[in-house]
Amino acid sequence: MTFASEISKTEKMARILILYSSTDGHTRKICDRLKEVIERQAHQVTLVSVRDEPHVDMKPFDKIVIGASIRYGKHSPLVVDFINSNERILDTKSSAFFSVNIVARKPEKNRPETNPYMRRFLKQISWHPGELAVFAGKIDYPRYGLFDRSAIRLIMFMTKGPTDPKAVVEFTDWQEVEAFGRLISQM
Ligand SMILES: Cc1cc2nc3c(=O)[nH]c(=O)nc-3n(C[C@H](O)[C@H](O)[C@H](O)COP(=O)(O)O)c2cc1C
Repeated sequence: MTFASEISKTEKMARILILYSSTDGHTRKICDRLKEVIERQAHQVTLVSVRDEPHVDMKPFDKIVIGASIRYGKHSPLVVDFINSNERILDTKSSAFFSVNIVARKPEKNRPETNPYMRRFLKQISWHPGELAVFAGKIDYPRYGLFDRSAIRLIMFMTKGPTDPKAVVEFTDWQEVEAFGRLISQM
């Protein structure tokens, strides 16, 4: 690599914050994959859990990505609070939001325009993320406690999903995750 190309690479390097909310680790796994893809494009990624750092300083970052999973119909209130308290700064930066949920395993509900959680969420906040994505999540029955396992099995029974209490099923389309990573690199 020449000195000139090294400089132009440095000039284009962006600092990207990915703030996430993940209960069972799947959204975090998606964030890890995004980080891998984005860093391959020579940008710098910092991953922060909203639970660990609800007051993270966004000033040092050029782009902000927020990702959260759905539990019992909602994204974490910590994410909503974070967005509401930082709405002004969020709107000054390139930004993206993604939602992880199991309803998105259905092709007719796996896009920002067709996923009910994403649609409802966008009505609830004033921030306007530049890019949006919805990813299907994971079912991991052995990991859940009795109450959650029974509730999710019932919902899966009603919506024709997996109900075997030993089932561990990842519905995520990793190619879509990687494409979103490349989109974030370019935005
Ligand atoms: C207790 C519980 C409640 C859930 N509620 C919903 C729900 O209401 N709608 C939905 O689409 N997915 C729901 N899911 C599926 C999660 O969104 C999915 O498992 C996701 O991969 C979890 O990501 P996380 O590990 O980052 O929290 C639920 C999962 C659990 C364990």
